[in-house]
Parts: sequence; structure tokens; C-alpha cells
Amino acid sequence: MGIIGADELRGANLGDQMVAVLGYGSQGRAQALNLADSGVQVVVGLRPGSANAARVQRDGLRLAALDEAVEQADLVALLIPDEAQPEAYEQVVAPRLRQGGALVFAHGFNIHYRHIHPRADLDALLVAPSGIGEQLRARYEAGNGIAGFVAVDQDATGQARARALAFAKALGHDRVAVIETTFAEETETDLFAEQAVLVGGLSELIEAGFETLVEAGYQPEIAYFSCLEEVKLMADMIHERGLADMKRRISTTAAFGALLSGPRVIDRSSRAAMRELLADIAAGRFAQALSAEMAAGGPRLEAEAARARAHPLEAVRRRLRGSRPRE
Ligand SMILES: NC(=O)c1ccc[n+]([C@@H]2O[C@H](COP(=O)([O-])OP(=O)(O)OC[C@H]3O[C@@H](n4cnc5c(N)ncnc54)[C@H](OP(=O)(O)O)[C@@H]3O)[C@@H](O)[C@H]2O)c1
Repeated sequence: MGIIGADELRGANLGDQMVAVLGYGSQGRAQALNLADSGVQVVVGLRPGSANAARVQRDGLRLAALDEAVEQADLVALLIPDEAQPEAYEQVVAPRLRQGGALVFAHGFNIHYRHIHPRADLDALLVAPSGIGEQLRARYEAGNGIAGFVAVDQDATGQARARALAFAKALGHDRVAVIETTFAEETETDLFAEQAVLVGGLSELIEAGFETLVEAGYQPEIAYFSCLEEVKLMADMIHERGLADMKRRISTTAAFGALLSGPRVIDRSSRAAMRELLADIAAGRFAQALSAEMAAGGPRLEAEAARARAHPLEAVRRRLRGSRPRE
């Protein structure tokens, strides 16, 4: 576990092993292009009628149907949405991938919760970029990269870890950090962070802050700027300098206000709620709830999307969008 040293990564190489990248969305495009630019043989597999086929060809990569791509490959990177992976694995990959091949995941969910059971002769690897596909590609093109997490769930060939390191290096993760983890740790921390902090926590915090100000009679436009737009400035500063230096650089008023009030908002009960949701994730209860939601056609997700679109924040956003130049 921990950061993998440069010495170990120096010799990592996929050699003449062929990688089939299934899917050409956020991660699929970025990974296929980075792999190809690193000298790896790549074929992109897409379903019939894919709107992304033209893009693959414009990008100068080899394109094939899903089944044909798998038949040519030594490693198959499953870069289609997590909920589509179990069926694609059963229908397309498992019957065709050669003996001793490898499955490469960008997120541990389907292996950790056993929605996919890899054939016994296959390696199952995780190479999870610590950012969105667009960043993975842009940083690689700029000569640097983003960190990546690697893990092995099944080592059928004795080569699983070497393959994971070589894959991570070809994506450019060695330029920043390749960190060894497990499928369980990557999955549970990723789900926790998006639920408690990045998506669930942050959007509730923004809405609650905005609503508190508007209910108290302040103008929605001022509330919108204060509670939503300025999030980007803070996030950029935190990303660049860390929390401690951010607190040193903001005004004394802001720093003292945060000291008094931050723990009143995220208090003991919020921390207890975080521990509870982490327990739900670790015990698989969140995964069960997600499966039930998707089996029902996603009604709660659809209702939430409609609610968010109808929120007064969106009306302010549309008004302001109309009255200022596009960035
Ligand atoms: N989004 C990120 O930046 C990010 C970050 C870290 C990890 N990950 C992980 O990376 C993996 C891929 O996520 P993503 O966000 O890159 O996916 P995505 O952009 O939603 O994937 C879109 C691609 O998947 C194809 N696809 C969708 N459903 C399919 C199906 N049923 N059968 C075959 N192909 C199908 C689409 O086909 P068409 O071309 O036909 O539309 C398209 O090419 C996931 O495991 C995710 O957790 C993603």
C-alpha cells in the first residue's frame, strides 16, 4: 500500500499487449488517447449506432464492434457506466476474452459488491484516475498528469500487478503519483466522498445557505453569488494551497467567522450522519439501494433532477446568464 516508487514504475510496460477500451465517454476517450500516445496498441469498442463512432475515427484510433474489440484484446478496460458493466461483462466480455486476459476497471464498485464475477483465468485490476476524464487527457497532453489508484482483485496470471502498474504509467499517472489501494478502499472512499462532501454535502450546503438568506429577505441574486458562484474561487484556492494556507490568505473577518461558525453548521450530528452513511456504504446497503433504484427505472433520480431544475437558484442562474457575456 502507499505510493509506488519511481524505480518500480520505470520498468513497467504493457509491451505488445492489446487493450480494448469499451466505451468512448469521459474516461473512455481520455484513456484510449493517453494509452495510444504512450505507445500501447488500442482498439475502441462501441455498440452499434454509437454517436461516438465518428469521434473515435476523427481522433485517429482503431474502432470495432464491442465483441470484435474484445476478441482482439489482452486487456479489456470497461469504460462504460457502472450500471451497464455487469450485463456487458456477461454478454460480451466473458464469452470472448482470451484465456489469461485482464479486466481493467476505473472504479471498484462492480467487483467490490460482486456484481461482476470474473472468470477464474482472468486478472481483475483497478486503475482509477483521481479525476474526470477531461482532466486526465488535458494534463497528459500538457506533459504532466493526475494521480491514479491501482489495485488487484484477482491475480490469475501472476502478472496482474505488473499489468496494473504498466496501465497506470501509460495513462500518465506516474508523472504525479501511483498509489496502491484495494477495490474496497477505492470504492468506499469514492462513494463516501461524493455523498458526504463533493456532491451530496456541497449541493445541500449551497441550497441551504441560499434559502436561509432569501427567507430572511435578502435579494436572491446576492444570495446566489455569495453561496454558489464563490464556491469556485474557494475550491481553486483550496486545491492550489490546501486548507491551512487558504485560511491564512482570506480576510481576518472570514477566518474568524469560519472558526466560530463552521463547527456550528457541520456539528456533532453531521459527523454522526457521516459515520452512518459510511457504514451503509461499507455494509453494501447503499449498493442495494442503487440497484433497486435502477431496476425501477430511476424514479427517485428523475424526481430529484426535476426538483433541482425547479429550484429558485436555477431561475436566478438563468436571469444572470442572460445578462452577462459567456465565459
Ligand atoms: N466520469 C469520470 O470522469 C470518471 C472518473 C473516475 C472513474 N470513472 C469510472 O469510469 C467508468 C466509465 O465512466 P464514464 O463516466 O467515463 O462513462 P460514460 O462517459 O457515461 O460512458 C459513455 C460510454 O459508454 C457507452 N455505453 C453506455 N451504456 C452502454 C451499454 N449498455 N453498452 C455498451 N456501451 C455503453 C456509451 O456508448 P455510446 O457511445 O453508444 O453512447 C459511451 O461510449 C465507470 O466505471 C466510472 O465509475 C469515471
